[in-house]
Amino acid sequence: MKRLTVILFSVLLTLSLAACGNSHQNKENVSAETEAATPAAETEENNGESTEESAESSTGTVGTEEAGSGNILIAYFSVMETDGVDTVAGASRVAVDGELLGNNQYVAQIIQRETGGDLFSIETVQEYPTTHDPLLEFAYNEKADNARPELGTHIENPDSYDVIFPGFPNWNADLPMPLYTFLEEYDFSGKLIIPFTTHGGSGFSRTIQTISELQPDATVISDGLSISRNRVSEAESEIVDWVNGLNLTNE
Ligand SMILES: Cc1cc2nc3c(=O)[nH]c(=O)nc-3n(C[C@H](O)[C@H](O)[C@H](O)COP(=O)(O)O)c2cc1C
Repeated sequence: MKRLTVILFSVLLTLSLAACGNSHQNKENVSAETEAATPAAETEENNGESTEESAESSTGTVGTEEAGSGNILIAYFSVMETDGVDTVAGASRVAVDGELLGNNQYVAQIIQRETGGDLFSIETVQEYPTTHDPLLEFAYNEKADNARPELGTHIENPDSYDVIFPGFPNWNADLPMPLYTFLEEYDFSGKLIIPFTTHGGSGFSRTIQTISELQPDATVISDGLSISRNRVSEAESEIVDWVNGLNLTNE
């Protein structure tokens, strides 16, 4: 029995290290230099479908912020901006009980609370600027470079999940590049993927199709939850209703 436990531990350790190694192979150098005039801000404005449309640990191989024993994982990426507009409308942050959260971090926490799933923050080794214009420029360059930013957090036991909620901001009408790294690091074949996003007017853009392309053997639902950043702070009941309408059980 003891020997079996040791063997199982070794296998798990090997799998964990393999996951780490894979992420390192994906590392690309990301230049913060501007190659050209940055159209990112324009992109954000110009991709506006209606804003009224409906509907984040440490480094190394880590587990989840809120680890339970269920089969639901909420994996979110969120960069809380610290400058600019107030926290009520148009900001990339939400104030909850005196604590400031990124928009998708906030949505992720509500989904976690409602499902009882595990909460996982997708974080990069390289920190993102937290002020708006430098962040726009940084993200634009990453996209232009088709970069795969190295992740600093990794799911400890990805096979234990059947349902994954990837959450992310719409960046330049696309997934933020760390989502590409994330979706290329894991094989979610046979699992149910339920995306959610917050945005400045573009909704999901093409991101759901992109997720399907990156995870061709998963079932990706086409009507994820999309919330304008202008409404995040007042969207709690909408998020709760949406989650409950999914009829998921965390077992
Ligand atoms: C680099 C960058 C690019 C963005 N590009 C778009 C865009 O193309 N379309 C859009 O609707 N919103 C865009 N936005 C707005 C974000 O999607 C929105 O502020 C989101 O709520 C941020 O979520 P977070 O606080 O979880 O990071 C962009 C924001 C940033 C920082």
